[in-house]
Amino acid sequence: MNAPLALLAELTHRCPLRCPYCSNPLELTRAGAELSTAEWARVLDEAALLGCLQVHLSGGEPTARRDIAEIVAAAREAGLYTNLITAGVLLDAALVARLKEAGLDHVQLSVQDATPEGAERIGGMPRAHARKQEAARLVREAGLPLTLNAVVHRQNLHNLPALIALALDWGAARLEVAHVQYHGWALANRDALLPSRALLDAATRIVEEAREANRGRLVIDYVLPDYHATRPKACMGGWAARFLAVTPSGRILPCHAAEAIPGMEFPNIRESSLHEAWHHSPAFNAFRGTEWMPAPCRGCAHAEEDWGGCRCQAFALTGDAAATDPACALSPHHGLLAEALAEAGADEFRYRAFGG
Ligand code: SF4
Ligand code: FES
Repeated sequence: MNAPLALLAELTHRCPLRCPYCSNPLELTRAGAELSTAEWARVLDEAALLGCLQVHLSGGEPTARRDIAEIVAAAREAGLYTNLITAGVLLDAALVARLKEAGLDHVQLSVQDATPEGAERIGGMPRAHARKQEAARLVREAGLPLTLNAVVHRQNLHNLPALIALALDWGAARLEVAHVQYHGWALANRDALLPSRALLDAATRIVEEAREANRGRLVIDYVLPDYHATRPKACMGGWAARFLAVTPSGRILPCHAAEAIPGMEFPNIRESSLHEAWHHSPAFNAFRGTEWMPAPCRGCAHAEEDWGGCRCQAFALTGDAAATDPACALSPHHGLLAEALAEAGADEFRYRAFGG
């Protein structure tokens, strides 16, 4: 069994934004039930001992916690590379200085759209875009490397060229263009977010051209959506193979969206060590490797490449977390994706697109 590479530490579900594809679960943890600073320090120590090399400090909005700099310091003390995944709207010069002093290594800043109006409509917070721009400036001024995270969907894909220009303008070295993954809130809002095939193809061309044009200046990562795919992604690099997540209330998960799968008992850091959870818990072992796979994954030549796709998506679409991910054309449920596209009106090119 491999050691995990990275821990996703979901420090809180609190956040001033209201994005329609938020990765928070539908049921949120109250602030009073969140892990304490000391508990997070223990989690970070245990993660490093387990073999993790990096921690992604996320949420909700991680800087909504007053002790965020202490948590960064604890991660640094444990020897972990620390990446802050933030909406940026609560960052000011003093906090950036404290985070840098505490040993923060990298900042990933989310942007909802390329224009203030679009960003505020999607994120639901007035002046959020201007605050993010200021946060980007402060992060760069502090000498911290900056990645912009742009989640893209039908409401903002027509602004992709402007998002790429914005990443260059704000001084990012890397831009992650990630199509929405349909779990939790995104699944609930799927009809408003799914892009058409034509919009997706145009976006893919734009990314390819921008990569070429900005070689050496901006790295662009591109995460494709599953609903137009014929092969699934190796979600999480395989269940419990490379990553683990800890929720604000201390639940230890093989994937940040896994709580949506009913009937699985996830260990809690208040009762279990990370080591015990990773190596011995039934939840982590449920879909590890290939033994659990039903047909058509069982015996498939791609089984150790995509690990049967995404367990959370298999459950969300078929009601069975052990089913082949419907993103695979060999899945008996593959037709569900075309049905969802048709229902969302995203099966044909009828939306505003580039230059359209
Ligand atoms: Fe992957 Fe299973 Fe499809 Fe084979 S059948 S390509 S293992 S999802
Ligand atoms: Fe949970 Fe893919 S999102 S396994």
